Amino acid sequence: MNNILEQNKRSWDAMADTWFGTTALPTYGCFIPTEDELHLFPDLSGKRVLDIGCGSGHSLCWCGEQGAAELWGLDLSARQVENARKHLVKCGYSSNLYNGPMEVDPGLPKTYFDVVYSIYAIGWSTDLKTTFHNIASYLKPGGAFLFSWDHPLMHCVEAVGEQLAFTGSYVDESFSYIQRGQPVTVQNRRLSTYINELADTGFAVEKIIEETDSDTLAKPAAFSAKYYSAWKANKLPLSFIVKATKL
Ligand SMILES: C[S@@+](CC[C@H](N)C(=O)[O-])C[C@H]1O[C@@H](n2cnc3c(N)ncnc32)[C@H](O)[C@@H]1O
Repeated sequence: MNNILEQNKRSWDAMADTWFGTTALPTYGCFIPTEDELHLFPDLSGKRVLDIGCGSGHSLCWCGEQGAAELWGLDLSARQVENARKHLVKCGYSSNLYNGPMEVDPGLPKTYFDVVYSIYAIGWSTDLKTTFHNIASYLKPGGAFLFSWDHPLMHCVEAVGEQLAFTGSYVDESFSYIQRGQPVTVQNRRLSTYINELADTGFAVEKIIEETDSDTLAKPAAFSAKYYSAWKANKLPLSFIVKATKL
């Protein structure tokens, strides 16, 4: 494993217990419409699903509730995988969970899954090309790949006074910060980087969602300097979602 993955793994292992169901389906991210409103997933009855960066297993549990036949997950953090395993047993589902980075195929079955998804994890990939190639190899032709992440503009702007100021960069795609006391490195890729890499890997992009949810847009929001805020979400989408199909 490279140094960034080692460092990010340490951070996620340390904070796994405090990140329990925090970003999970039907929620895609902050202040963005949910799956209940968007209906991007196909009918999951009898389907095989794989969660990339499955965290505490709450999204997989939601897939189980939708009738998915097989629940598979992969996560860098051994502690997250342990929590996911326990959570899924508690929910009454059996699962196949792997501990490892999404950049490395841990031996998952090929041309097997109907749906592969990743909720707020894809920006942790240190090698998008290999990650997308792996995901394409797991999917059946016609299978769906969905992912959500912070909108790339989020790392470009900050609240200064009561204005949003462009203080970052849309050009630099990698940045490091301290996540709950631990150093981590994350990728802030441009939307074009994701779209071009998907096209190169043999995916057709079906939809990109860059929206703030209607409840937030309907209410006047007081100024807030927080990273995620309703005030900011009234000015730009805080998250984005991509739905693609394997050709
Ligand atoms: C924000 S959480 C996602 C929560 C989860 N998707 C859910 O629905 O509950 C991000 C997850 O990505 C995992 N992660 C970080 N880097 C990774 C990598 N390179 N490969 C696989 N998983 C990774 C973390 O351990 C963490 O569990």
